[in-house]
Amino acid sequence: MTLREQVEQDFHRRFGAAPTAVVRAPGRVNLIGEHTDYNDGFVLPIAIDREVWIALRPREDRRVVVHSLDYSASLSFEIGPLSRVGTEWGEYLKGVAWALREAGHTLTGWEGVMGGNVPRGAGLSSSAAVELATQRAFATVSGLPWQPAAMALLGQRVENQWMGLHTGIMDQMIVAGGREGHALLIDCRDLSLQPVPLPTGAVVVVLDTGTRRGLVDSAYNERRSQCEAAARFFGVKALRDVDAETFSKREQELDPLVRRRARHVITENDRTVQAAEAMRAGDLTRLGRLMDASHDSLRDDFEVTNEALNTIVLLARAEPGCFGARMTGAGFGGCAVALVAPGQAEAFVQGVHAKYTQATGNTPQCYVCRAAEGTSVA
Ligand code: GLA
Repeated sequence: MTLREQVEQDFHRRFGAAPTAVVRAPGRVNLIGEHTDYNDGFVLPIAIDREVWIALRPREDRRVVVHSLDYSASLSFEIGPLSRVGTEWGEYLKGVAWALREAGHTLTGWEGVMGGNVPRGAGLSSSAAVELATQRAFATVSGLPWQPAAMALLGQRVENQWMGLHTGIMDQMIVAGGREGHALLIDCRDLSLQPVPLPTGAVVVVLDTGTRRGLVDSAYNERRSQCEAAARFFGVKALRDVDAETFSKREQELDPLVRRRARHVITENDRTVQAAEAMRAGDLTRLGRLMDASHDSLRDDFEVTNEALNTIVLLARAEPGCFGARMTGAGFGGCAVALVAPGQAEAFVQGVHAKYTQATGNTPQCYVCRAAEGTSVA
């Protein structure tokens, strides 16, 4: 049974009728441009065919009643002044109601069933998928206009102000605005998008190490502060405004740790713009090399990889047909992404699976991803 069928069937069972609408939002994998979004830089993610679905219908009153298939739990709240009580899945839904109301929207109540298959905590933006699917549900029943960038900013507000995580705009932008068969080169300063077709000569393979690291929030916030310190040193708004030449002239004056953090961001921005060019030109060898260099910079300068990520990336690169591999997302655990020749993808997955299991004793999840459409009414 598809996810759509599951949420529809469960809706029918719970509410005794068919839903009036079904919405979906995808997860994402970032091909390159890591830890650049909060530096006003560039990112190149795709929305993936792992999704969160909600079957729903409007209510007469101002309540939101949602059952989550993944958590086997239900949530019910009144649209009105809300307060945050924890970090459970339901907080994302309440946070969305709060952010939409803060933005001046009048909301209608609804009831629904939610289910998804975006792995949680793996760096594939399961939380952005929940946020955007919920926003789509509210927009549908309340007759709100759907503008992907505006909705992405609202979703980011939920993360930043409701959940207290100081994340950038990449996840919500790609989840809201993804294009089937394309990666999006996103300028995180002005939020302009350039869809870049995925070359036919390669497939995207996600390699989930199975590792999940706690304390990511504090490490993430620490990286952000270090980047901000570097931007202050150069007297600019964000590291996006520092080019390689300016950096090399003055880098010796920087504290060594801040210097390495800044070097990652400045070189990663260049790599990301180059990667989009390579992708457009169908130059997979160059694209793969840029991905490799991105990982090495995240490992050595930004220091957000872990042993599992480094191991799986090295194993991936050694397999025939692999153009390049790197960690993806915030890091410290979770997933890597590899670009692989389509005819060799199956052997690639088998090879990495066997060798990673042997090397670490952990079983990875490896799957080929399709570039999916952003959040939509299905
Ligand atoms: C997380 C954040 C994003 C971005 C990445 C790192 O996914 O949510 O905003 O900063 O980490 O590139």
